[in-house]
Amino acid sequence: QTGFITLDKGYKNTGATQSGITFLDGEEGILRYRGYAIEELAEKASFLEVAYLLIYGELPTQDQLTKFEASIRRHTMVNEDMRKIFEGFPVNAHPMGVLSSLVSAMSAFYPDSYNDKLPDQTDLHIVRLLAKLPTIATWSYKKSQGHPVNYPKNSLDYCSNFLHMMFALPVEEYTVDPVVAEALNVLLILHADHEQNCSTSTVRLVGSSRANLYSSISAGINALWGPLHGGANQEVIEMLEDIRNDGGDVAKYIEMAKNAKQTGFRLFGFGHRVYKNFDPRAKIIKKAADDVLNKLGVNDPVLEIAKGLEEAALNDEYFIQRKLYPNVDFYSGIIYRALGIPTNMFTVMFAIGRLPGWIAQWKEMRETKDPIGRPRQVYTGSPLRSFVPITER
Ligand code: SDX
Repeated sequence: QTGFITLDKGYKNTGATQSGITFLDGEEGILRYRGYAIEELAEKASFLEVAYLLIYGELPTQDQLTKFEASIRRHTMVNEDMRKIFEGFPVNAHPMGVLSSLVSAMSAFYPDSYNDKLPDQTDLHIVRLLAKLPTIATWSYKKSQGHPVNYPKNSLDYCSNFLHMMFALPVEEYTVDPVVAEALNVLLILHADHEQNCSTSTVRLVGSSRANLYSSISAGINALWGPLHGGANQEVIEMLEDIRNDGGDVAKYIEMAKNAKQTGFRLFGFGHRVYKNFDPRAKIIKKAADDVLNKLGVNDPVLEIAKGLEEAALNDEYFIQRKLYPNVDFYSGIIYRALGIPTNMFTVMFAIGRLPGWIAQWKEMRETKDPIGRPRQVYTGSPLRSFVPITER
């Protein structure tokens, strides 16, 4: 504490804003979107229903949902000139770097998004983002396979359209497996919002300068990419593969995690800033992993390794004392993999899920006219000193 400034690195004890969108109770492991329990929404709602709820505050009537879905379908195609930007990326470009670049580029394609003098078109930009993110997201995967990109098929629902664009090939009929589409629907709902996490706080901070929605969302995608945040879902699978290739000795890796300072090893998918009890999303995903893999007849050895790690950690003083439980990223990659999604696309899947939450929070920040974010600091640098000519340095 110096003068009037309270230092709170990582904002561990600072409320940055007021919000009516998502409620978390870290001690009880509770997550609600606009008052609805995540368990109910994951079981009973569609992803676009949840997107509408987060963004507009209420579950849509049938008529509102029909109109919302129709408006999104009308915007699923992407300006063909965006493909020229995309073609400039190397084949091994990480899909998250491609996604944040192309979303940022959308602000250049829609100048009405940053010209405050024009009538407000926020709802149109919201629809464009929800509609085009899945289309853009699949381009990287198709390029990595040497396959032609697919155009959206507007006779399909949101999740089925994404799967079609990911996996359809011009040489044969592709039919979406309803088990896969439903699993994707649940995963996207579980990722849809999470109050003031790192990427959402980034979207709010960028948007607080009155930067346009596309630029703010692009910043959120970049923040999500970090391995401590959404990038953890890719890290988890790579970690589980390493453990499997090293003989599957989970006790060895638990010990390495406990000596993180010496080993530099972190148990990705464990721990959370807010949840000091189970992450309710991890519970749902763990159960879904068993269901989906059984239904698809997939036997993934890393699922057993994940369960072994969880079991060992939950009975180990180091983790218990630090209240480290599996988080949303611990099991999600196992399902994505069973759905045929490649590892380097896992964080892209997180971004597609989190998009409505980012949009809802950006919209709320603008509507409540939050001031521009400009935190202070505690200065630890040099006191006043005089300039030294270079000949005397
Ligand atoms: C997401 O904020 C959100 O809501 C995020 C998210 C969302 O929906 O938006 O939920 C999504 O990002 C989930 C988190 C994904 N990240 C990971 O799985 C990476 C591994 N987890 C950690 O890096 C960590 O737990 C964080 C980043 C999630 C939280 O970090 P904190 O709150 O700053 O906690 P910390 O790093 O200070 O850890 C506290 C202690 C430390 O030990 P000590 O220094 O006190 O001895 O716990 C240890 C840490 O070393 N610790 C771990 C650990 N996580 C924390 N030890 C081993 N393995 C881990 N995973």
